[in-house]
Amino acid sequence: MSKYKRTLVTTALPYANGPVHIGHLAGVYIPADIYVRYLRLKGKEVAFIGGSDEHGVPITIKAKKEGITPQDVVDRYHNIIKKSFSELGISFDIYSRTSSDTHAEMASDFFKHLYKEGKFIEQTSMQYYDEEAKQFLADRYITGTCPHCNNENAYGDQCEACGTSLNATDLINPVSAITGNKPIQKETKHWFLPLNEYETWLKEWILDSHKEWKPNVYGQCKSWIDGGLHPRAVTRDLDWGVPVPVEGADGKVLYVWFDAPIGYISATKDLTPDWEKWWKDQETKLVHFIGKDNIVFHCIIFPSMLKAEGSYILPENVPANEFLNLEGDKISTSRNWAVWLHEYLVDFPDKQDVLRYVLTANAPETKDNDFTWKDFQARNNNELVAIYGNFINRTLVLTHKYYKGIVPERGELSDFDKEILSEIPKIKASLERNIENYHFREALKDAMNLARLGNKYLADTEPWKLIKTDEERVKTIMNICIQIATNLSIITEPFIPFSAQKLRDMLNIEKLEWEEMGDNLIKAGHCINKASLLFEKIEDKEIENQVNKLLETKKANSLANIEAEPAKENCNFDDFSKMDIRVGTILEAEKVKKTKKLLKLTVDTGIDKRTIVSGIAEFFKPEDIIGKKVSVLVNLAPKSLKGIESQGMILMAENLDGSLSFVSPEDKEILTGSTIC
Ligand code: MF3
Ligand code: ZN
Repeated sequence: MSKYKRTLVTTALPYANGPVHIGHLAGVYIPADIYVRYLRLKGKEVAFIGGSDEHGVPITIKAKKEGITPQDVVDRYHNIIKKSFSELGISFDIYSRTSSDTHAEMASDFFKHLYKEGKFIEQTSMQYYDEEAKQFLADRYITGTCPHCNNENAYGDQCEACGTSLNATDLINPVSAITGNKPIQKETKHWFLPLNEYETWLKEWILDSHKEWKPNVYGQCKSWIDGGLHPRAVTRDLDWGVPVPVEGADGKVLYVWFDAPIGYISATKDLTPDWEKWWKDQETKLVHFIGKDNIVFHCIIFPSMLKAEGSYILPENVPANEFLNLEGDKISTSRNWAVWLHEYLVDFPDKQDVLRYVLTANAPETKDNDFTWKDFQARNNNELVAIYGNFINRTLVLTHKYYKGIVPERGELSDFDKEILSEIPKIKASLERNIENYHFREALKDAMNLARLGNKYLADTEPWKLIKTDEERVKTIMNICIQIATNLSIITEPFIPFSAQKLRDMLNIEKLEWEEMGDNLIKAGHCINKASLLFEKIEDKEIENQVNKLLETKKANSLANIEAEPAKENCNFDDFSKMDIRVGTILEAEKVKKTKKLLKLTVDTGIDKRTIVSGIAEFFKPEDIIGKKVSVLVNLAPKSLKGIESQGMILMAENLDGSLSFVSPEDKEILTGSTIC
């Protein structure tokens, strides 16, 4: 027996500065919806919370660019997102937003409470300020020359040329991105949550008591905690957000990652006056569905906030997924490299379930995964149509043909019948285990196995032949097929709810409960409706259209790229041949402490083994790149980065969105130490 009475399921609040795409869906919303629909079918008490995250700097930058207010920006996208989720059947009990009054009050009270209890530390520091715009400049609002590589367009938090992470005050010749003026330095005060004080507790709570969390989640938590935690500022100098509710904090708002997760609580309050039962009762099981980029916020920072507050429950699990790529490339909003949900819904009307199915079958549960339109088509045509649709269609058509749609009485069961029927509870149990452990891909396979079972039963018994010789036997066979179809209408409901409803309409039944699954659900004499197609084949033409749309995006991006990066001045061959570039192999990799972007690598260059510090930590996990063959500039003068001497440089290709790839020899036979010329 579970110690929980009810389940509170939250999904990461998407930023309302763009629509949602398949990456969001596969990572967060579809798995959460499957989980919730399953619990509801089991008759459990559950609340399913969603909403838009409407604060933060990117929203203010977008508003400025378009000459509209941040509220205009979030109104636009909140509505698009909310509508498209609902059309996809994401069955939120509430889809709220963080620009609401309830939220401002909840977040403000939360901060005040911690403030009064002395849970924050106050710190004053110098920050850049634009006197003309009369505002402090967030990191991305400042550019200047990188002190490491002299790139003139480095940002206040990072130089994208050499990958070093910076403080805005490190920049030479800083310039405000708002007015182009030279900013002054001005003193500013902020409130910090001293995460270091929660380290011991976090170790116990996560590392000792939540070993069952997914390895990707547990691993990230461990590396954060092992790396040492530091106080995090929870306020910002910005004019968009929840105002900091203490005296002397004019012009300051709560940091977006402080207020957004409180959005889960305020959304619950918008849903029910009884919200405290969901958040403060130990019998509530709290589960956060998120993507991997949100892990630290949901596993370390938000729980520390809740712990500091004292009266809230903590998440029981945080089943974060990895990322979904699109046709081999990282999904990117700025490069428009995505399949947007609101566009899909227009291009494929009434095919919500196909997308739900494909994104579940291919979900990035344990590693990054790739969505391709070819796979989308294949899964629809070869699985939904050929397996599931085919079984349902044959069952319904034959029942009409032989019995005018009236479910026939069944006679004595053969051993084979019994064997087939005994599979139903086994499949049910396996699926339950999988869903309850957040293995949704496997759970979907279980559901499809029931359809496969039905097909196998039909293929082995061949009622269309028997009808000429053994009419009684055919009655039993068709009765059993109808039972399997009915079980399918229950077991597939969490995954493909629109088709499950269609199937119930065909079977002429009401929605059944999970525990009703079994071998004799529909009684003889029940009259079913005519068969209509549950799924239809997707033709090559439709897939070509989608692929062409993406090719157009690629073209537009590469044109933009050429404009953005003019060729450098000519150099002669001697200049070029000064560079000694070799194929190296990465032997070891670890994060450089206290930096976001740097990895310390040990590289075998064929000449020696040496240390190279590389600004690639945002794009590669240390454990994923060990053994990788890369190109190394071996005669670059050594340089000290964060106190480590870096002896050379790893060559990287940079994408439009700033993401990086290694420049690696394709041919695996190339030996370490080979020169590149
Ligand atoms: N808006 C964030 C993102 O898209 C997620 C916020 S989740 C919440 O990455 F907990 F803060 F709400
Ligand atoms: Zn630089």
